Amino acid sequence: MKGIVFTEFLDLVENKFGLVMVDKIISQSKLESGGAYTAIGTYAFSEMLQLLKNLNKNTGIAIDDLLLVYAEHFFSVLENSYPALLNQYRDPIELLASIENHIHVEVRKIYPDAELPEFVVLEKSKNSLIMLYRSNRAMHHFGLGLMNKTFEHFNSTAEIILEKIKEDGTEVKFIIHKN
Ligand code: HEM
Repeated sequence: MKGIVFTEFLDLVENKFGLVMVDKIISQSKLESGGAYTAIGTYAFSEMLQLLKNLNKNTGIAIDDLLLVYAEHFFSVLENSYPALLNQYRDPIELLASIENHIHVEVRKIYPDAELPEFVVLEKSKNSLIMLYRSNRAMHHFGLGLMNKTFEHFNSTAEIILEKIKEDGTEVKFIIHKN
């Protein structure tokens, strides 16, 4: 997992819960990196999982909710870092339907070792989209947060239903209706 995902996560934890919480979740986790991340480095996903689990233990906030809030923050990082990529789209449904074949393809050119999910478009119309999410990281709520912010980016909103195909969350169906 890319270092930027860790640095932005720990920044958000510091903003919301304070530096003491950052130190606490790092020391409660067994991190090969020691918790010192650089934006351009690459680290084991298991480190993110431990940080999330310990933040959940200390705050009582469910991991899915932590990922949702984190993704909403991460979207503004994407807006600032990759405006040219996002500005190629005029419509949130078009953008979301293009993650697999365009956006994440470009991401892989920048970060060849990125660990990205797979999105399969099952149905698409002007105002709706049904997509399958597949990833052994089961970060579907990270996806949900990015989707919410994608609609907001275009001054729009949507109803998004998440249907687990596999109980462990490694395969999830997103049913998206633009309002
Ligand atoms: C300019 C737009 C985007 C850029 C530059 C981008 C880039 C990235 C990067 C760098 C990662 C982390 C990879 C790693 O740590 O190895 C990632 C992960 C992810 N992205 Fe994107 N992304 C974009 C848009 C989106 C959107 C709109 C969605 C909406 C669903 C999305 C869904 C995800 C998910 C769910 C992950 C987590 C990894 C997983 O589930 O396996 N991305 N993306």
